[in-house]
Amino acid sequence: MKKLFTSALAVACVFSSLTSCGNTEKPASKCTAENQICTIDTMVAESIVLPAAQTTGGMPIYDAMSARATYRNFSSDALSDQTISNLLWMATGVNRASADDPRLTAPTARNAQEIDVYVCTKSAVYLYHPVGHKLTLVTKGDYRAKAGNNPFHANSGVDLIFVANYDKMEGFDEHGKSFYGATDAAYVSQNVYLFCAAENLKTCVCGNIDREEIAKFIHLKNGYVTLSQPVGK
Ligand SMILES: Cc1cc2nc3c(=O)[nH]c(=O)nc-3n(C[C@H](O)[C@H](O)[C@H](O)COP(=O)(O)O)c2cc1C
Repeated sequence: MKKLFTSALAVACVFSSLTSCGNTEKPASKCTAENQICTIDTMVAESIVLPAAQTTGGMPIYDAMSARATYRNFSSDALSDQTISNLLWMATGVNRASADDPRLTAPTARNAQEIDVYVCTKSAVYLYHPVGHKLTLVTKGDYRAKAGNNPFHANSGVDLIFVANYDKMEGFDEHGKSFYGATDAAYVSQNVYLFCAAENLKTCVCGNIDREEIAKFIHLKNGYVTLSQPVGK
C-alpha cells in the first residue's frame, strides 16, 4: 500500500524547493506538519504533472447532455487527483497530440488557444498547461472565496477561472479579442458542465465575479478575466 502511494505521488508531482508536501524523503503517507494526505488539493508545488487523464469511456454524451445543469450547493468534499486531471483535460486538454500542432478539446477562434485556466485549490492557485498536462504555481493560499462573489465559491472542490490571454491573440483587433475571448471561454465552460454531468459533480459558471481582484491574485498582465466556474461534490 505504501509502495503504491509512493509511486502515485511520484507520478503526480514534480517537486521544487517550494513543495510543502511532496518531499519524497518524508513518509509517503504524510505530507505536511498537519498530517494531511498529499493531494493536489493540499499541496503547494512549483509544478505538478497531473496523472494521465481518462480520455475514453464514461457516460454517453446524450445522457450527459440530458443531465447538464447548474448546481450551487457544494459539499466541500475534496476532488481526487484523478478527477482534477480528468476535469482539466475535458475543459481544454490536448486531444490531438502533435509536437508542432497540438489541438484541444475546446475550439478557439483561429486556433489561438488563448483561454488560460487557473485552478484555485484549498492551498494554492495554479495555471493549467494543456501541453504536458501540468499545473504551475501562480500563488500560494486559498483563493476560492475570491474567485466569485457568490458565497458558494468558498465551498467548492476547485474553482476554475477562465482568462482570455491577449498575448496569444496578437492578430485580433480590440473587438476580436473581447468577442472571441468570451466566446472561446464559453466552450471551455460547457465542456466542464458536461464533464460534471457525466461524473455526477456539481458546477455553476459565474459572471458575477470581481475581475480586478482576480486579475491581482493571478498576476494578470495582458488579458481579460471572463468567467469562473466552481466544481465540487
Ligand atoms: C455567462 C453566464 C454567467 C453566469 N453567471 C452566474 C453567476 O454569476 N452566478 C450564478 O449563480 N449563476 C450564474 N450563471 C448560471 C445561470 O444562472 C444558469 O445557467 C441558468 O440559471 C440556467 O440554469 P441551468 O444552467 O441549470 O440550465 C451564469 C450562466 C452563464 C451562461
